[in-house]
Amino acid sequence: MNVAVLPKLSDLNDTSFNPFVAETLEYGEFTDTYERLRALRRTGDVQKGSIYSFFMNKENEALRGVTTHMVLGYDLAAMVLTDPVTYTNEAFRRTLGQSFGEMSLTMLDAPEHTRYRRIFQKAFLPQVVSAWGESVVAPVVDELVSKFEKRGSADLLQEFTRFYPFQVIYKQLGLDEEARKLFQKIAVTQTLYRSNLENAIDAGRKLGDFLRQLVEQRIERPTDDLVTHLAHAEVEGERLPVEVVVCFFRQLLNAGGDTTYRGTSNILMGLLINPEQLDRVRTDPSLIPQTIDEGLRWESPAMTSPRTVTRDVELAGVALPAGSVVDVVLGSANRDEQKFADPDRFDIFRDRKVRAFPFATGPHVCLGQHLAKVEITRALVALLERLPNLRLDPDQPKPVITGFHLRKPKSLPVLFG
Ligand code: HEM
Repeated sequence: MNVAVLPKLSDLNDTSFNPFVAETLEYGEFTDTYERLRALRRTGDVQKGSIYSFFMNKENEALRGVTTHMVLGYDLAAMVLTDPVTYTNEAFRRTLGQSFGEMSLTMLDAPEHTRYRRIFQKAFLPQVVSAWGESVVAPVVDELVSKFEKRGSADLLQEFTRFYPFQVIYKQLGLDEEARKLFQKIAVTQTLYRSNLENAIDAGRKLGDFLRQLVEQRIERPTDDLVTHLAHAEVEGERLPVEVVVCFFRQLLNAGGDTTYRGTSNILMGLLINPEQLDRVRTDPSLIPQTIDEGLRWESPAMTSPRTVTRDVELAGVALPAGSVVDVVLGSANRDEQKFADPDRFDIFRDRKVRAFPFATGPHVCLGQHLAKVEITRALVALLERLPNLRLDPDQPKPVITGFHLRKPKSLPVLFG
């Protein structure tokens, strides 16, 4: 694309704000997240309070005064997520919607959600997405691995997983080097509405202005990038409104980049701390799909998903008033001992009769799940093929996954060759 025509993305009003530090503070550095959730589940699958307050010991400012419950068990979580009439996505409009805008798929409910989602789905058909695996994902993965492949040691998080899904998105957006850094900073700031609402709203506005110009450019002058693809996607003569495309891209770095970065890091960690399973996958790459399923069950990158209750209901004997919010704790449901034997164990060979839902379930199930799997598969194949005898570096501290939401280890120090 013609780099010269790229619109200008403005920095935050508060130029000194560092969202990367703020982010760690916002998610905490807990190492006992699952123990605490297990203890909570033992006293009931529905609990008063929000997951944020439970871990951070303070109120989520965006939901101040709103009664909130947590849904922790698998069956109840599935029930809530597949009943969009009783449990709507309004909760997102009050939280992330303040910075992301109210027209992204996550913020919408039927009938708009259903209408727009089918157009997006057409744009994300499995055959389209697997073609991106070759044209977009593979070159990004290859370039990153080439930087350390000859060295014999690397930090797979700091040198690989931290970059690859974001670079995939930058390529899909047609962003140049200059725009990328600021884009990431602004996109991360948008998510920090709980603790830095003013900066989050400023970030959402700046990113929206930039993306609106980009989408309008692509409508006038189509290229072969994803912006053009979505701006022109059509089902039965209906196209997506500009604002819906803008909001999709505003959400993408977090919905698609952050989740895939953390998911890939956690899967790699599961393999590295279980070297016998790593060996099996290395010698038999057909095990990769079940490795991805298990890794995302074991450590679901998106821990929780809120819904608003539209009528007075009772869930597991607990009264949920109309207008209240439920935090569906996906990470807890995916470790429910009623459904998964020895749920804290990473086991790529576990019985897969019960499917975990790291991508949620119901009408808002992740639109990008096929793309995420294509990306993670490409990453695992490249790392296992090109880094023989891949193993944790025994002289470095053993990695630990921390946080109560968007979890990941700090580093993945490895040796190979
Ligand atoms: C391992 C990687 C990923 C995980 C764990 C993940 C997880 C999720 C979850 C849990 C939701 C549901 C949120 C809700 O309850 O409403 C969701 C929705 C969504 N995801 Fe992903 N995601 C991943 C990758 C991606 C990618 C690569 C994309 C890129 C297109 C993407 C785009 C979206 C979108 C647009 C939605 C909103 C769908 C809707 O509301 O209809 N995700 N994702």
